[in-house]
Amino acid sequence: MEVVILNGSKQIAQLAADAIGELLRRKPDAVLGLATGSSPLPVYDELALRHERDGLDFSRASGFALDEYVGLPPGHPESYREVVLREFTNRVNIRPENVHGPDGSAADIPAACSAYEEAIAAAGGVDLQILGVGTDGHIAFNEPGSSFTSRTRIKSLIEQTRRDNARFFDSLADVPHHVLTQGLGTIMDARHVMLVATGAQKAQAVRDLVEGPVSAICPASILQFHPHATVLLDEAAASALKLADFYRHTYDNKPAWQGI
Ligand code: GLP
Repeated sequence: MEVVILNGSKQIAQLAADAIGELLRRKPDAVLGLATGSSPLPVYDELALRHERDGLDFSRASGFALDEYVGLPPGHPESYREVVLREFTNRVNIRPENVHGPDGSAADIPAACSAYEEAIAAAGGVDLQILGVGTDGHIAFNEPGSSFTSRTRIKSLIEQTRRDNARFFDSLADVPHHVLTQGLGTIMDARHVMLVATGAQKAQAVRDLVEGPVSAICPASILQFHPHATVLLDEAAASALKLADFYRHTYDNKPAWQGI
């Protein structure tokens, strides 16, 4: 796991966009794993800017969302499908048919979850997965206690996560209780995972995921087992890390050819 501590969101977005740009140049039909939440938004803004300004080309790329609420009507502005379209894919030249998400309004939920796993595999697997982290250490919607080998399935949200996400809805009562989410096993199959966390409210989750024991109580801690995991933090999110100086030193002295 590589931990990179930067001054703020702008620097994080630039470094993440550098890695994605390099991937697209190397592999124009790359498969991107797309997270929602506020943490990746500066990355999406930076990618949209580079598409507009520099012609960064997504025409052969595809995207797979991590998760989706169950029970929101199709087209609901806070459904993750709509969020991914609005915040990212509609702003670059990814073909709409190449943007996928789990179907939270399917009549047969287990079949929809299997179909989603099959679609990811048929696309060749995720090359680069963008992740945020919840205050309770969840990634995608894998709440504490999620199996480390889980695949896409239905999950119940912890009350804290519903409260955290209520800001996107009119009221807490409108936040669904159930979601479909890629499993921790699904996420671990991505070739490169890049987790973005900013702000002091994430400091404890970051400490647990980077330096805590690998435990289902902090689902993101499974990333310690990933062969290519990058954790991009601002100073506030990094403020509880014991080895922060070591991570800074390592990154500052890294050979340029290594990238992230
Ligand atoms: C939601 C999403 C996660 C995201 C988390 C944190 O629960 N399902 O993918 O990482 O929120 O969101 P934020 O980045 O807004 O703190």
